[in-house]
Amino acid sequence: MSHVFHRNPKMDLPTAVGGQGMELIDSNGKRYIDASGGAAVSSLGHGHPRVIKAIQDQVAQLAYAHTSFFTTQVSEDLADLLAAAAPGDLNHVYFVSGGSEAVEAALKLARQYFVEIGQPQRRHMIARRQSYHGNTLGALAIGGNAWRREPFLPLLVQAHHVSPCFAYRERLDGETDSAYAQRLADELEAKILELGPDTVAAFVAETVVGATAGAVPPVADYFKRIRAVCDKYGVLLILDEVMSGMGRTGYLFACEEDGVVPDLVTIAKGLGGGYQPIGATLCTDRIYDAIVGGSGFFQHGHTYIGHATACAAALAVQQTIVDDGLLDNVRARGEQLRGELRAALGDHPNVGDIRGRGLFVGVELVADRATKATLDPARKTHAKFKARAKDNGLLLYPMGGTVDGVRGDHVLLAPPFIASPADIGRIVDRFAQTLNDVLPR
Ligand SMILES: Cc1ncc(COP(=O)(O)O)c(C=O)c1O
Repeated sequence: MSHVFHRNPKMDLPTAVGGQGMELIDSNGKRYIDASGGAAVSSLGHGHPRVIKAIQDQVAQLAYAHTSFFTTQVSEDLADLLAAAAPGDLNHVYFVSGGSEAVEAALKLARQYFVEIGQPQRRHMIARRQSYHGNTLGALAIGGNAWRREPFLPLLVQAHHVSPCFAYRERLDGETDSAYAQRLADELEAKILELGPDTVAAFVAETVVGATAGAVPPVADYFKRIRAVCDKYGVLLILDEVMSGMGRTGYLFACEEDGVVPDLVTIAKGLGGGYQPIGATLCTDRIYDAIVGGSGFFQHGHTYIGHATACAAALAVQQTIVDDGLLDNVRARGEQLRGELRAALGDHPNVGDIRGRGLFVGVELVADRATKATLDPARKTHAKFKARAKDNGLLLYPMGGTVDGVRGDHVLLAPPFIASPADIGRIVDRFAQTLNDVLPR
């Protein structure tokens, strides 16, 4: 019996013993193409020599120094790199150890900002249905994933939810992108007015929705209109790029493509690429100055924030993305992946939608393409898809509840940025084989 409390104790898991580039290897010698980077984490693939060396060098020099006593050069260098890359004046980087912590820090920073500037009545957080922001209680509370929230509802602080921007499912027949974006911005405005404009602190959204709905990008101008509503009422915009950030969409910050600058942005998975646990929350000058010029102290913190070894890994990952021109590859391979998936399965009766940005791709599975009717949730098609793909030597990140937390199935692909054209071809072949195994035509 295993003494590890696995997340799904009844599941028989192979033992991972190695990783090379696009592949993970188990103790039986079986090789798997890592087409989802775990949960969109492994942006550089596995065993990258530059990152390994950076970690080894840092550990040999200094593994950890508590941030209430010291700063470290490596955390300063990483923050400089991120601040320079981030849009607008997102110049201040608060390091944490993962995505949920980044979201918690963003929520608390937003709240403290309003306390500092003399608007302590601002307490409401508005987020979207069909979103995921993490599993700690604050992040879970603002998340809109009904299934994940349900058992913990009595413990969750109050949060408010509006519609996601989910064109395939929720745009009306004949509605233009622009009319759809405006309808959603109007809905947010109505929610702010309902709660009382001077009581709302922040609106939180994933720039591109990840795990809950499967790589759903917003329609054009959606975030510009959302930004305008937030600005009108002094509400902060928090973009969660834990999954979509750090190059996954072909941009280091996914919101660059949407032409907006949030007040706070969270990043994690692709920041350290899986080599170390690390996340960060970036904020603008206005927020930072309010804290520094006010109480002078952000009332938050964890033991491992700004961990030197984690920062060294993340710095090497981010430098490699720039030095190796990997964002161009993400865009090109992303186009190829969507194009080849459409060619191979676009006419499959159970493929409803193929979507995404860069190497962040979702395939939504349906019972009927014309009506978009979902497969029976009791069939757990997503789970079968994951297991079958694994048998076929392909790691994917499928989920159920795409539509409302219960109905719907999708498969998320998030291969490493180092993928070659041939790698993408192999992923599509194994994906098509898995689809035909699970849902024969
Ligand atoms: C958008 C988003 N935010 C937050 C999180 C939580 O990150 P973590 O699992 O590192 O705590 C996730 C994880 O999937 C995510 O996709």
